[in-house]
Amino acid sequence: MVVTGAASGIGRAICLALAAAGRPVAAWDVNGEEARQTAARCAELHGVPSHAVEVDVTDWAAIERAVSGTEAALPSVGGLVHAAGVGLPGAVDDLDEQSWGSVVDVNLRAGALLVRALLPALRRAAPGSAVVAISSVEALVGHGALPAYCASKAGLLGLVRSLAHALGGEGIRVNAVCPGAVDTPMLAPLLAIPEARRMLEERIPIGWIARPEDVARVVRFLLSDEAAYVHGSSLVVDGGLTATA
Ligand SMILES: NC(=O)c1ccc[n+]([C@@H]2O[C@H](COP(=O)([O-])OP(=O)(O)OC[C@H]3O[C@@H](n4cnc5c(N)ncnc54)[C@H](O)[C@@H]3O)[C@@H](O)[C@H]2O)c1
Repeated sequence: MVVTGAASGIGRAICLALAAAGRPVAAWDVNGEEARQTAARCAELHGVPSHAVEVDVTDWAAIERAVSGTEAALPSVGGLVHAAGVGLPGAVDDLDEQSWGSVVDVNLRAGALLVRALLPALRRAAPGSAVVAISSVEALVGHGALPAYCASKAGLLGLVRSLAHALGGEGIRVNAVCPGAVDTPMLAPLLAIPEARRMLEERIPIGWIARPEDVARVVRFLLSDEAAYVHGSSLVVDGGLTATA
């Protein structure tokens, strides 16, 4: 199983959740040192084959090298989770080509390139191989300070539906998860402001901010045969946030 964004937060938790279920894990991230830590923890705690790759998922040549290295290191690659993401805030007045590209290229464009690069491996493992894209509730509701982020995450849902149409017949399932607020380094600057954290918690019907593990377990379910008939879907994991706007 290839997991991008595996050096931190949700991606790391997904690697550990998969390893706990006995699944081999390839931890991909632009932060190679922390990706290696994730892979090492998977092997130490759960005894699964694991592999780490330092890779910028916006770089096609780097992705191709990462695929080769991973196929050589693991017994098989039965799936992909695209959890690498960036959430650069900046209102529409501040948009420029570079800031737009830096968000959309990681969050959306890379999702398509990764599936393209891993298709031969996913086909070899089918039926039973699966892809999960980590989108966001910001694919569903707009946020004025995050135009590129909202667009990229909504785009991922379109990509998932297209891939589901294309690949379902080959036994490759494709789904998305839309997390709400999750306590990771991405959200840390906001959560460090006590008033902001309190206001956020008050808006979430379930009353608390998710831990990365809360999202990881849902992703593990979508990758498993338990979800054999879940395809082309997006699963909201937000403690009720978007149910009660
Ligand atoms: N934290 C939240 O509240 C929240 C909510 C909804 C969705 N998400 C999404 O969940 C995913 C994981 O986010 P997180 O909260 O764990 O954030 P995080 O910042 O802890 O982790 C993101 C990881 O992506 C990696 N990454 C960034 N650019 C990369 C690139 N070009 N190539 C390879 N790796 C790259 C980073 O190095 C980092 O390890 C993201 O897609 C994010 O948009 C997060």
